[in-house]
Amino acid sequence: MAVELFNPKPLAWDSADLDADTREMLATLQPNILRAHVREHLSVLFVRFAVPDDGRRFVRGLVPLMKSARRHLEEVRRFDQSRTQGSPYVGLGLSRSGYRHLGHDISDLRKFGDLAFREGMKKRAVVLDDPPSHEWDAAYQRDIHAVVLVGDSDPEAYRATLARVRALIPPDARILGEETGVAQRNKAGEGIEHFGYVDGRSQPLFLADQVSKEPGRNWDPFFPLSQILVPDPLAPDPDRHFGSYFVFRKLEQNVRAFQRAEQDLADALGLSGPARARAGALLVGRFRNGTPLLLHPDPSSDGWAVQNNFNYTRDPGGKCPMAAHIRKTNPRDGLERGVMMARRGQTYGVRTDQPWDDASPETRPTGGVGLLFMAFNSSLEAQFEFTQQSWANNPDFPDGSVGHDPVIGQGPRDIQVTHPDSWGSDTLTPEVRQIPQTVTMRGGEYFFMPSLAYLKKV
Ligand code: HEM
Repeated sequence: MAVELFNPKPLAWDSADLDADTREMLATLQPNILRAHVREHLSVLFVRFAVPDDGRRFVRGLVPLMKSARRHLEEVRRFDQSRTQGSPYVGLGLSRSGYRHLGHDISDLRKFGDLAFREGMKKRAVVLDDPPSHEWDAAYQRDIHAVVLVGDSDPEAYRATLARVRALIPPDARILGEETGVAQRNKAGEGIEHFGYVDGRSQPLFLADQVSKEPGRNWDPFFPLSQILVPDPLAPDPDRHFGSYFVFRKLEQNVRAFQRAEQDLADALGLSGPARARAGALLVGRFRNGTPLLLHPDPSSDGWAVQNNFNYTRDPGGKCPMAAHIRKTNPRDGLERGVMMARRGQTYGVRTDQPWDDASPETRPTGGVGLLFMAFNSSLEAQFEFTQQSWANNPDFPDGSVGHDPVIGQGPRDIQVTHPDSWGSDTLTPEVRQIPQTVTMRGGEYFFMPSLAYLKKV
């Protein structure tokens, strides 16, 4: 029986009844796609090969260091049962020029349905209002062939695996760039991004064991495999071998500017004391501890599990503004579910301050820190690019002149915006300027994460 990408039921990956094709899919799919892999310590290497034979040998040589999605899921289960540490994650993606260099011709490349992938991120800069590629960090201005991810929770295992990967890189190949991700956590141990907010909470879930832990009446976290998997067109058997389109973007965060903007907005709204936290929540849609602004006027739920069971049907914007980052990027209206990506980002940059505390903005970094934004898609055009272009950068989405996504919106922010004057109110403040852009794209690329079956044979 063919792999049911559109199966309306979560995948019971461990079921004894699993059909042979789905078993083969899981045994050859890379990990971190269906379910996030731990990547507390992470390296992202961008490689350019010099000699096609060497490139192919490198790819084949990497396979013994990689594991399948199935093995990853088994490791997670073992960890949950007996705290046995799993093995490090090694992932490999190829860009369109990587495929060309490894010997695939144009007709092979046409088998990839995604136009954005076939064009590469540099060409799509105009569509996305990105800075032109000559302004990107040097590594990303070059033609990247491959991305290799190495991640683990244990620093020793991560370093040892990274050394093994490096040792495989052919002598003439070049590591054009390397990004190091280091997880940031708040006092409660939740993963946060550099503006100080809990991140990575709302994710599409594909697996029965994950979905069963998160029943949702107001938001269904289950998505079919078609959301992130496509047949690997160059694998020996695309009916059973699958891959995913991978977007990588280095997003630098000016933390000082963002926190000044939070303060200015709090002043403009006349907020004082603990209530000032609502200003930042109006921009993000959640308070720093992850409390959704839709559900609570303040972050008082400290210590509860971070909520994700909500939708905006009864809120025209008085509680959570239409333009808040999480509402722009996931309107939760049922119609747009196909846009949701599986986000797998990690923060980069070292901080000496505590991102989650209430220190003055003047003590915050203005650069050198940010998010290595990464996400899996079955269509880069319909998911990542649509989110960035048609929602985040579009001040008229979802409803006339609400403004850009205050966190990731790009392009001129000349329109003025209003905010509800108190939580749940339909009275709006006078128009104010939008907050300045505080996230800057420093470069990136689109990749395809092929099946292990392809990598073994390349
Ligand atoms: C959610 C921050 C970039 C799409 C979130 C959350 C935070 C956050 C704090 C709430 C946590 C959660 O609900 O999981 C940031 C920061 C970014 C960034 C600081 C850049 C530096 C992006 C980009 C995209 C994106 C580039 C896509 C184009 C999303 C989506 C959600 C989300 C889809 C989940 C919304 C939901 O389902 O409720 N982000 N983000 N983010 N972000 Fe971002």
